[in-house]
Amino acid sequence: MKVAIIGGGTMGEALARSFSTIDNIEVCVAEVKGERRAQLQEQGFKTYASSREAVREAEVVVIAVKPKDVKGVLEEVKELVGGKLIISIAAGVKIRHLESVIPEGRFIRAMPNIAAVVKAAITALTPSRNVGKEDLEVAQSLFSSIGRTILIDESLIDAVTGLSGSGPAYIFLVIEALAEGGLKMGIPYDKAIQLASWVAFGASKIVIESNQDPSELRRRVTTPAGTTIEGLLKLEEAGVRAAFIKAVEAASKRAYEISRDLGG
Ligand SMILES: NC(=O)c1ccc[n+]([C@@H]2O[C@H](COP(=O)([O-])OP(=O)(O)OC[C@H]3O[C@@H](n4cnc5c(N)ncnc54)[C@H](OP(=O)(O)O)[C@@H]3O)[C@@H](O)[C@H]2O)c1
Repeated sequence: MKVAIIGGGTMGEALARSFSTIDNIEVCVAEVKGERRAQLQEQGFKTYASSREAVREAEVVVIAVKPKDVKGVLEEVKELVGGKLIISIAAGVKIRHLESVIPEGRFIRAMPNIAAVVKAAITALTPSRNVGKEDLEVAQSLFSSIGRTILIDESLIDAVTGLSGSGPAYIFLVIEALAEGGLKMGIPYDKAIQLASWVAFGASKIVIESNQDPSELRRRVTTPAGTTIEGLLKLEEAGVRAAFIKAVEAASKRAYEISRDLGG
């Protein structure tokens, strides 16, 4: 199956790299910037300057340009996409925006995150009314190559953007702050970063692999009169839990505003 990725930026490149590891998937990338095209070619990707040329030979089209450029891309390729599945990863661009350009289009909206670059993304997928079971399976298999996928109702996509779209940045801040705690207690910064990042990785791995509620896991590692309860008490006193809830709420509201400004 041939997949054309329109937009060879950070996400387009990460998707191209992972999709091309899947058996029987051939990837090409349309990218307007010549310098960027040359970099992608050096990595072995077939590239095009024109999205029309890339789309012509593909069965699946993935739109990975900035949200403001999506409508322009769809206008460019609209008479070439008949019968093709179109997956858009653009933040804030609703299915009805996509359908306003190509009403009969088979669209899937996908919201991955930057962890696609290390194949550890979580991608929320929302199919449009014209999409069949097989289309959804194609999207799930493509996006499984960059991590996990979940199906989500489009009404929750702004919330997903606020949680898992922006989430890696929250965890970078947590790692940085934990490492600074280590630094304060005398651990050299590079070692503190290693310790803190493996803590975040290990704790995530336990939650994912055990499928247990994190509150239960936390209770199990919190021994009576031990060290962990002292640390947790300070986090609760500082309102860290409320801060994260409010962070997701604020980022989701911002995603809603961006989507509204794009015409929703
Ligand atoms: N980065 C993330 O963590 C993340 C997470 C989830 C979803 N997304 C979504 O993914 C999309 C891409 O994000 P990104 O960070 O990869 O952006 P990016 O680095 O700006 O990549 C987009 C690329 O597409 C090029 N482009 C623009 N119009 C084009 C056209 N008509 N044909 C071919 N190429 C074209 C851009 O060139 P110019 O710069 O010259 O316009 C740019 O090189 C966005 O819509 C974003 O909302 C990103």
